Amino acid sequence: MGKNMVIQENELLTLTKLNSENDTDTTKHYVSDEELANIDKEYCTYGDKIHADSNPKVFRDCNGVFMYDSEDTPFLDLEMWFASCNLGYKNKRVRDAVVDQIDTLPQISSHFQYDYKVLLSEKIAKANIERFGTKGRVQFNVGGSQVIEDALKLIRNYTHKSRMFSFYGGFHGRTLGASCLTAGYRYRKPFGHFSEEAHFVPYPYCFRCPYGKKCDSCNYYCVQQLRREFEDNCAGIYDHSSKECAMGAFFVEPVQGSGGYIIPPEGYFKELKKVLDDFGVLFVDDEIQMGFYRTGKLWAIEHYGVKPDVITFGKSLTNGLNPLGGMWAKEELISPEVWPNGRTHSTFCNNPIGMRAGYEVMKIFEDGDFEREVANKGKYFLAGLKDLEKRHKRIGHVDGLGLALRIECVTEDGFTPDPELLHNILAEGLKGDLSYNGKKCGIILNKGSHYNNTITLVPAVTITYEEIDMALELLDQLFTRLS
Ligand SMILES: Cc1ncc(COP(=O)(O)O)c(C=O)c1O
Repeated sequence: MGKNMVIQENELLTLTKLNSENDTDTTKHYVSDEELANIDKEYCTYGDKIHADSNPKVFRDCNGVFMYDSEDTPFLDLEMWFASCNLGYKNKRVRDAVVDQIDTLPQISSHFQYDYKVLLSEKIAKANIERFGTKGRVQFNVGGSQVIEDALKLIRNYTHKSRMFSFYGGFHGRTLGASCLTAGYRYRKPFGHFSEEAHFVPYPYCFRCPYGKKCDSCNYYCVQQLRREFEDNCAGIYDHSSKECAMGAFFVEPVQGSGGYIIPPEGYFKELKKVLDDFGVLFVDDEIQMGFYRTGKLWAIEHYGVKPDVITFGKSLTNGLNPLGGMWAKEELISPEVWPNGRTHSTFCNNPIGMRAGYEVMKIFEDGDFEREVANKGKYFLAGLKDLEKRHKRIGHVDGLGLALRIECVTEDGFTPDPELLHNILAEGLKGDLSYNGKKCGIILNKGSHYNNTITLVPAVTITYEEIDMALELLDQLFTRLS
């Protein structure tokens, strides 16, 4: 595929198709990267995230773990649409299921019943009975932030509390309600006062412990601090006479995603849950980024031996096709008596194409041995990162849980965060002039973190060992070039 390529009818490259729907001509208009940039400058908003880069990279095709640009240069993707395509691009089984749904029942109003919405709810509810022994129900919506809104309504409906706990560095979306839980002030600054802003608590970010403690000897100091706040009648979060907390629930990311793929130490969530149980606070597990085997389990919280009251999910539920999200809650919170008809709804919340994709994704996970495979690949990838850490002074910390992995970019002293190095590494990867086995290629990396210095590695869980070797080789080239 070169610049003057012709797009075939059956290709999914609709971005480049400007012709009318009735046009049966297989010769399609091709819009060059430059033309796209000019049209974009004139007519597209700068309010979404595309213009974080002054010259956003154009891609034309994708397959497996690769994206392809206009010169057909392959880019190994370690971001996968912000963890939305855990099963790789153009996954055949999901594609075939969606095509079949398009040919059978592609549209149906959200107040009529049909099979896959019910069957997908059953799959998720039964998966949670198996994992937590808890009976619950599922409700869907169209994206992560909308699901967080629904979970906020659910908690408010049950507890009559409008404030929640959330973590420093937590990200739960950008709608107004979800922004109350998203820690960074930059997400709220232009939008006035948020009276329901969460009570933010430090995440167990042990490499840079906010309390200056050492993980192996702190005895969960951060959790003990939270307990002290509860025990203090005047700290503002708990009334000892009525035994009531000012907050309804704690919204938790089991591995902090946008915060930089920070993995809490073993035992942390058990300690936290003890405090929340003692003071009557519900536990909402936000799996929107870490769910669907990112960490080697359906839900990342399974690594920690605690039972959530609510789980929110999205992104990879449909492997990036016809976006859908959902919340599962235990029966007590979501039974028809407590959460009756119409408590929340959206026109597209039960859309059949998304449901069918989600059902197929769940079936693929049931049919494979992803728990073992992701754990093994994750160990292999992390061992390679540890080797890079030894050889590159500008790598301060690496860690991973399954295929949720991280690299902190630091200055020569080995600890001070270096956001500029991170920025340069991401930009260099997108140039497409690295090489693997003598072939020109690029790498797509994402960033996260409290100090803007962390590469978050989010490969498809279907990545092969050879592709992991390629990732390590390309990261080595980038750190060698830029350190
Ligand atoms: C943990 C978590 N919650 C919620 C969201 C918001 O999801 P969406 O971007 O689909 O609205 C995200 C998005 O990155 C997320 O990572």
